[in-house]
Amino acid sequence: MNGEYGLLDPDEADAPGDEFEEIDVSDTEADRIARERDREFDQWRKRIKDSERFIVQDSAFDDATFAALYKLVQDGYVDAMGGPVSTGKEANVYEALSGERARETLGEDAEQVAIKVYRTRATNFQDMREYLVGDPRFEELGDKKDIVLAWTRKELSNLERARKAGVRVPNPVAAERNVLLMEFVATDGERARRLDEVSIENPETAYEVVREYVRRLYAAGLVHGDLSEYNVLFYEGQLVIIDVGQAVTVHHPNAEEFLERDCENVASFFRRQGIEVDGGELYEWVRENAEPDK
Ligand SMILES: Nc1ncnc2c1ncn2[C@@H]1O[C@H](COP(=O)(O)OP(=O)(O)OP(=O)(O)O)[C@@H](O)[C@H]1O
Ligand SMILES: [Mg+2]
Repeated sequence: MNGEYGLLDPDEADAPGDEFEEIDVSDTEADRIARERDREFDQWRKRIKDSERFIVQDSAFDDATFAALYKLVQDGYVDAMGGPVSTGKEANVYEALSGERARETLGEDAEQVAIKVYRTRATNFQDMREYLVGDPRFEELGDKKDIVLAWTRKELSNLERARKAGVRVPNPVAAERNVLLMEFVATDGERARRLDEVSIENPETAYEVVREYVRRLYAAGLVHGDLSEYNVLFYEGQLVIIDVGQAVTVHHPNAEEFLERDCENVASFFRRQGIEVDGGELYEWVRENAEPDK
């Protein structure tokens, strides 16, 4: 506090991006487990490895990824691993049974959690770099492992920031190495569909909600950076924004360009739903109606 006016000390202000400052990409507990590989870990790894469901495409998990999952089980976040929800270029998403600690965050009813596992091999690191350079907090980043670790922590903290800003996203739970744990947005165990997979009955309202979410994100100092119908879920009458790993703070040199692109993508999807909207106008509207405190 600064005297009697109740002004926040600038050091304490929650400026966009503050939460990344203590980002730590040094060896994690998971790396240590992978190195030491005691008997219990070996058995657990074998059990998962033998289960067909975890051999996705050409790349099975590496030891450190197994160790990260093992750590999440040991720490009580996950009770049992489930099958894949999605397999992609950068990450695979799995469902799993919530452990006690996940339910502490998500509520007692949350039987399942989603586990997003970033690939440490096939990922396009040059693309990732583009979102991290220009940000002083990531200057030290060296090898691929560091980048993926930072990326995973960034998605966790972006989810948290978005949630605080009133944007409906999967509730974040924990991150361990290249593994992110979050609310599984699903009904009776079935993942929620994306906007590209459903037919929208009231596109006007949906557009207004997405527009408001873009505005709230921007006001909170974030630009999604990959917003489109593929990263919005339709869940029990709500729209849920996902995939915020690449979201950048408004300080990023390309933030405005990313915002413009997001607006174009959103507008072009809703135009195909029969609404007269324009990406440029959406961009202007966001700029006029949000005042990110830089
Ligand atoms: N929390 C979640 N709850 C339910 N479904 C999810 C959740 N997170 C992701 N999904 C599903 O998994 C898919 C991929 O997730 P996401 O978009 O986060 O990864 P991605 O980075 O796009 O992966 P890639 O680019 O490698 O395909 C989504 O399209 C969605 O269908
Ligand atoms: Mg996606």
